[in-house]
Parts: sequence; structure tokens; C-alpha cells
Amino acid sequence: MASRMPPTLQRLAMAPVITSLSSRKVAVIGAGAAGLVAARELRREGHKVVVFERDDKVGGTWIYSPNVESDQLGLDPSRTIVHSSLYDSLRTNLPRESMGFRDYPFVVKDGKERDPRRFPGHPEVLLYLDDFARDFELTELVRFGTEVFHVGLVEEGKWPKWVVKSRRRIRNDQESIPIDLDEVFDGVVVCNGHYTEPRVAEIPGIDAWPGKQMHSHNYRIPELFQDKVVALIGSSASAVDISRDIARVAKEVHIASRSVTDGTMGKQPGYNNMWLHSMIESAHEDGTVIFQDGSSVLVDVILHCTGYTYHFPFLKTNDIVTVDDNRVGPLYKHVFPPFFAPWISFIGLTWKVIPFPMFELQSKWVAGVLSGRIALQSQDEMLEDVKAFYSTLDADGLPKRYTHNMSDYQFEYNDWLAAQCGCPPSEEWRKKMYYATGKNRVARPETYRDEWEDQHLVLQAQEDFIQYSPNGGR
Ligand SMILES: Cc1cc2nc3c(=O)[nH]c(=O)nc-3n(C[C@H](O)[C@H](O)[C@H](O)COP(=O)(O)OP(=O)(O)OC[C@H]3O[C@@H](n4cnc5c(N)ncnc54)[C@H](O)[C@@H]3O)c2cc1C
Ligand SMILES: *[C@@H]1O[C@H](CO)[C@@H](O)[C@H](O)[C@H]1NC(C)=O
Repeated sequence: MASRMPPTLQRLAMAPVITSLSSRKVAVIGAGAAGLVAARELRREGHKVVVFERDDKVGGTWIYSPNVESDQLGLDPSRTIVHSSLYDSLRTNLPRESMGFRDYPFVVKDGKERDPRRFPGHPEVLLYLDDFARDFELTELVRFGTEVFHVGLVEEGKWPKWVVKSRRRIRNDQESIPIDLDEVFDGVVVCNGHYTEPRVAEIPGIDAWPGKQMHSHNYRIPELFQDKVVALIGSSASAVDISRDIARVAKEVHIASRSVTDGTMGKQPGYNNMWLHSMIESAHEDGTVIFQDGSSVLVDVILHCTGYTYHFPFLKTNDIVTVDDNRVGPLYKHVFPPFFAPWISFIGLTWKVIPFPMFELQSKWVAGVLSGRIALQSQDEMLEDVKAFYSTLDADGLPKRYTHNMSDYQFEYNDWLAAQCGCPPSEEWRKKMYYATGKNRVARPETYRDEWEDQHLVLQAQEDFIQYSPNGGR
């Protein structure tokens, strides 16, 4: 791999180890939860920060849009893009106590628009992120309406740096005028989210099938499915929510799931119009869809709840950092590509985790490494670590697309990051709450957001939060 490195990169790799604390000029791409907390940590560390955000608000995923994309399956690269995948009825699938940043808990606030529930509706999360941006004065760091379309290496001064090319659209009465800007930064932190670029299931015969297909990215409200027969593919949190949302109005909902077992197959308890099947085997010209369990159904709509793919169209380092079967790599601890460390980093690639507190720890690590306060392993050590990690995945027979699935070891990972940063490890109540919620969600998918058995953990969390309240502990 090293011999493939262009000379510029070889020089970057030889750049001196940071010895005294340095302030860097850092670009952050995206002002969602990850970009906001990255900006906060970078500024706390003394760096100069510019956040690029193509939307005109902070919040990323949590900005609900009733609009859908021009290609609802999401395959046409020239389609109009809507960033958020939120549906109207969405409530969080994590309890608010566990969801918030570690030192800025997601507590109930007074106000007419506020949602005090433990698993609030999506507008409450956006309000929380707005509060976070306001309280830490982050909005002033953000350039709104500005899309990054190119990040690449340039020679400037002694060592290579990054050129960030962005396009801001100024709207006047009739037209929108693009203003392009090239700027040079020491470091780039990529926080562009990974729930926008759909992945769809491959179905034999689909080209001749006459019905309508869409991806859950473009699902908003159930009304469009009134009296329709729907085949829904997937078994993720969204698939579970959306199938129940639709079942209220659809004629029939047929769920195709890879993880179905004989015991759960067939008509779903509590519903007279919902069935669980194995995967779809084929689709046909006469409108029928055949499942692997042998059933054949005349279907109006196929809804792909099949997840997303990582997508960094602006990143012009593609021979060094690649996306291969949804593995972004090679990346040290899911954050630093060894060749470019610490000058480029990724926050928030992991999934099956509690996102915000993990973003916070990743950001502290990146900020501290960039200033030189936290030492990073050598390039060779990092590459060795990545190789060893990939080997364990191989040995467990896990495909590349599971690389950033952290369900089993997120807390171990967080504690490793915390130790690098000199922060306390994950709170015991947060770990226990994560597992308690997971169990409850499986046991009662319909009601886990309103009935729970871990109230004692809520009380422990609230006790812990007193230290962060305006008049509390410190
Ligand atoms: C349906 C759904 C439900 C979820 N439910 C929960 C939940 O209950 N609890 C929870 O904690 N998490 C949940 N999540 C996870 C959620 O993704 C994270 O909470 C978090 O919002 C991710 O933040 P992010 O900053 O990484 O990405 P995003 O929020 O996606 O932000 C990325 C930002 O980057 C901007 N951007 C992208 N490309 C560019 C570019 N080229 N130039 C400039 N700006 C750019 C985008 O406009 C966006 O603002 C859910 C996700 C989905 C999709
Ligand atoms: C994520 O990993 C866990 C543990 O390895 C596994 O049980 C789970 O099925 C994986 N999730 C998905 C959606 O692949």
C-alpha cells in the first residue's frame, strides 16, 4: 500500500510529530449532531473552526421535511436530494436520558412546543440540538447554505494541506447564484451523516414488475398507502415502525425479512392485515411477488427499508480511503485513516450505538490529537490495528458491511476513547439502560416507548444530571 502513495502523501506521512500544543485551522463538514459537537470540542481545544452546512439550519437528520426526492427509490444520481429520512410519526428509539451528550443531558424542558415524553417525537430532538448550538454559541461557526463539493490535498508551505471547495447559493428574486470558494485547512473532520444514500434489495424480475417501488428514506406518512397491498423489506428499527404505521391504513402489509424464523412467520399477532415472510424470491409481470416461503401475493408497492450506504462524493482521496461493501477503510478506530491521520477524520460512522455521547468522545479525541495534547499511535501501529480488527471480523464470518456495527462493544470502545482523552468512562446507568431498552423493544415493539421497567435507572440518570444543571453541582 505504502508504495502506491503519491509523493505528496509520503511527505504528509513524514510531517513532524506535533510537540507543543498547536492551534489548527479545521473544516468540519456538516452541522448535525456530530458536526456540532465536533465544532464545540475543536474550539474548546483552541482550534479555528469553520463548519460547512448545506442546509440553512443545524440538526441534520432531525430536520423533518415533508418533501421527498424526485426518484423515490433513490437510485438516480441526478435526483433532487432531501437529507433527512425522518417520517412524521417518528419517536426516538432510545430513551432521552441515554441519548444526550454526556455533559449536556437531554432533559425535559418547559415550553408549549416541548415534548416531555421519555421517548419524544422527532421535533423535540431538533429543539435539543438547537439549544445545544445556542448554549455553546456554535451557530456563529457555521456557514449555512454552503455545500462542500471537493476535499483534496494541496501543496502549501512546508507540508501538504487540504483544499476545501464549497458552493454557497445566494438566492435573489428569480434565480440562485452560486458562489464558489477554495480555502486551505490543516485538518478536515467529516460529519456528513450516513442515512441519506439508499441501499435497495436486488429482486429477480423486478424490471418487468409493474408496481411502484420506494425506499424508506422517502417515507413520510401512511396515507399514501390507503387500501394498498404493500411488501416491505427489512427488519431494522425503521422497518418495524413503518410497517405498523402503514398497517393502520393499508389493505395488507407483507414484511420480507432476512432474520425471520419459522416461529414468527405468518400472520402477526394483534393485526389482521400484517404477515411476516422470508425474503422475496422474485417479482413478476402480472404484479405478483413470490416469497421464499412459497407465498405469492399481488402487490401494489414495494417499500425498501434496507438501509443506507456511506457516501463521500466530495472526498478526492478515493484510492486511500474507500467505501467497499459499506466498509469505510482503512480507518483506525472508525475515525482516522492511518495515512492521513490526524489531518482527516470521520465522526459518527458507527451504527447500532447511542450516537450523541459517542460522537462527543470521538470529537474530543480528534481535537486533542490535532493539538498535540493526545498522542496517536504510529502509522504502522494504526495499520496493524486495523488489519487485526478486519481479521477478527473475517474469522467470525462477518461481511465487510458489518464493520461499523458496534452493537456488542460500543461501551468498551467509548471507554477506550474516554481513556485517550482523560475522561471518565461510560456511566453505569447508561449501559444498563441501553440493554434494558433493547430487551423491552424486542418484547413489546408496539408499546416499549410508553411502558418500561427501568424507572430506577431513570432516577439514577437524573441524579447524575444535577451536576450539569445551571444551578447544580459545579
Ligand atoms: C430514521 C432515523 C431514526 C433515528 N433515530 C434515532 C434515535 O432515536 N436516537 C438517536 O440517538 N439517533 C437516532 N438516529 C441516528 C441519527 O442519525 C443520529 O442521531 C444523528 O442525527 C446523526 O448525526 P450526524 O451529524 O452524524 O449526521 P446528520 O444528522 O445526517 O448530519 C449531517 C449534516 O451534514 C450535512 N451535509 C452533508 N453533506 C454535506 C456537504 N457535502 N456539504 C455541507 N454539508 C453537508 C447535512 O446537510 C447534515 O446537516 C436515527 C436516524 C434515522 C435515519
Ligand atoms: C450487528 O452485530 C451484532 C453482533 O455481532 C449482531 O447480532 C447483529 O445482527 C448485527 N446487526 C445487523 C443489523 O447486522
